[in-house]
Amino acid sequence: MTIRHFLTLNDLSSTELGRLIRRASELKAIRNRGEVYEPLKSKVMSMIFEKSSTRTRVSFEAGMAQFGGHAMFLSPRDTQLGRGEPISDSAKVISSMVDVVMIRTFSHQLVEDFAANSSVPVINALTDEYHPCQLLADMQTYFEHRGEIQGKTVTWIGDGNNMCHSYINAAKQFDFKLNIACPEGFDPNMELVEENKERVFITRSPQEAVTGSDLIVTDVWASMGQEEEQKEREKKFSGFQVSPALMDHANKDALFMHCLPAHRGEEISIDMMDDPRSVVFDEAENRLHAQKALLEFLLVK
Ligand code: CP
Ligand code: NVA
Repeated sequence: MTIRHFLTLNDLSSTELGRLIRRASELKAIRNRGEVYEPLKSKVMSMIFEKSSTRTRVSFEAGMAQFGGHAMFLSPRDTQLGRGEPISDSAKVISSMVDVVMIRTFSHQLVEDFAANSSVPVINALTDEYHPCQLLADMQTYFEHRGEIQGKTVTWIGDGNNMCHSYINAAKQFDFKLNIACPEGFDPNMELVEENKERVFITRSPQEAVTGSDLIVTDVWASMGQEEEQKEREKKFSGFQVSPALMDHANKDALFMHCLPAHRGEEISIDMMDDPRSVVFDEAENRLHAQKALLEFLLVK
């Protein structure tokens, strides 16, 4: 049996991703009806966190418990991972004892190296380069509120970071147009942009970017690991705040998303999360349902 990993959205086909999003909504309905569905009884997931998390940890841990399995939190502080044990050795050992491994770390290469040495599926729960699990929840949320995203226009405002890169992958996999408004010097990976140049467009003007858009998305200006750049970034990103006034330039039924945590008064205005166009809390809850669909896809044959 071939092991499937989920390191970026490109590890699944467009058809598989589409099915997964729909399955996530079904799993949500099953849970809302109070039905017990435990396809992962006696299965164990290791969760390796080298960066902080609220949503990712809670959603994976709750999802495994609801599926009848167990999730184990591992931090570099109290495992040999933090003392320099080679990733290849760690991957062989950990994967020999559990059924699936989830990793949140800095280097994307590390999750690739782990996956290359793992005998079980590996899930990328955020690296400096990509955050594919968040995109599953975002695509599910758009689908639940507005239907198919295919052929729509999405606008990313702010840093060309891990989330932005996953939006570029999503533009290809879910077939939408992506406008990216970022300050000079904070462009996403230009190779990725070039590979998707028929659907990804970069501008310096948030207002131009949101015009004609169906979904507006932003994220913090300084990601985890960039804390010392916070002050300098606040200056450089000052014209890139998403507010209800900016949203007024988008299409009438446009939605607003943010992976959270959000910094009110920085990348979003104080009132943005309470605007009726904001679906950020549905988006956050959908992390649970979308990742349960992912676990079922990877582990239930
Ligand atoms: N959006 C997201 O991944 O949140 P956490 O950092 O809280 O996991
Ligand atoms: N870009 C953010 C996303 C947090 C979920 C970060 O990497 O910190």
